[in-house]
Amino acid sequence: MNDSVTIADDAARNILRAPPPMAMLAELTHRCPLACPYCSNPIELTRANEELSTEEWIGVFKQAAALGVLHLHLSGGEPAARRDLAELTKAAASFGLYTNLITSGVGLTEARINNLADAGLDHVQLSIQGVSAEGADWISGYEGGYERKIAVAGWVDKARIPLTLNAVCHRQNLDQVDDMITLAIRLKARRIEVATVQFHGWAERNKAALMPTREQVERATTTVDEAREKYQGILVIDYVPADYYSTYPKACMGGWGRVGLNVTPSGRVLPCHAAETIPSLSFKNVREGSLSEIWYESDAFNAYRGEDWMPELCRSCERKKVDFGGCRCQAMALAGDPGATDPVCVKSPLRGRLTRETDQLSATSSVTLTYRGR
Ligand code: SF4
Ligand code: FES
Repeated sequence: MNDSVTIADDAARNILRAPPPMAMLAELTHRCPLACPYCSNPIELTRANEELSTEEWIGVFKQAAALGVLHLHLSGGEPAARRDLAELTKAAASFGLYTNLITSGVGLTEARINNLADAGLDHVQLSIQGVSAEGADWISGYEGGYERKIAVAGWVDKARIPLTLNAVCHRQNLDQVDDMITLAIRLKARRIEVATVQFHGWAERNKAALMPTREQVERATTTVDEAREKYQGILVIDYVPADYYSTYPKACMGGWGRVGLNVTPSGRVLPCHAAETIPSLSFKNVREGSLSEIWYESDAFNAYRGEDWMPELCRSCERKKVDFGGCRCQAMALAGDPGATDPVCVKSPLRGRLTRETDQLSATSSVTLTYRGR
């Protein structure tokens, strides 16, 4: 048999089953100097001695590029905790991947940023927790963090790397959205992502202190709409509203196994950040199989791909190609069933209960934050 025909046939069969992934989130490490109460990383973190080595990560990036990945997000934890960050970036860039560093800024110096620019880093996404040192450092649990972020933004600009500010918003800071947008302009960011907290991983423990109120969400939406008009052509504003107050769920991950994949610090390959909260799934590791096999063949990636898995409510719904039935991890957390319609959906029988619980949580006066242990 002609080998090239077999390979082409395999590729065609795979593409019919699922398109190749466009984006990969590489969680280089779970180590992090910050202690954010809204952290969506799992309760059990990967230890440093379990992390993939430099060579292993480079091998994963090479496979990702061959598989069709275009965007590589270098994330964590705090990716700057990896001493080989510039080496990893350089290798990824050499495979033609667009590299985006998602960082708190803590652990970066001007020299390291210049090294990253030389290595070919394409973009930096810098998190902010608030618009004053006192408020932001209270939320991150890291004194001096805010000042460091301001310095990092300046170095990134000097190195001519495009900057996005990433603001995770919740009840304790959602009223600062206007000032966060102004801060983004001041720091010469080209984009700000205002993302309402998702209650995955550690964040679940802080639901009472972090759940925004309906009024806050409505004000934030108006602020974003006005700012989009005011800063058109100057600043792009991405907004992920609080889906607990939405009518329909978000298209989480752009659909399961459809657009992107995550690799954990120790090499497990996940369809989304929180997939390990679904106990019925098991995940393959890049140490035991190729990325291509895992993407196309593994049970975990095929579990909620397409429409066959959908409950009748979603399968007969006109929005099934818009939101893909919502978020599987949210269905697991709120309905106890990863195959259920996302309870955020207005059509879900659980929506009424969710609304009552959300209203109760947002009405508590709790400001007690349970910080992520380091
Ligand atoms: Fe989306 Fe399913 Fe709700 Fe339709 S029923 S809007 S597909 S979650
Ligand atoms: Fe897992 Fe939404 S976070 S599907």
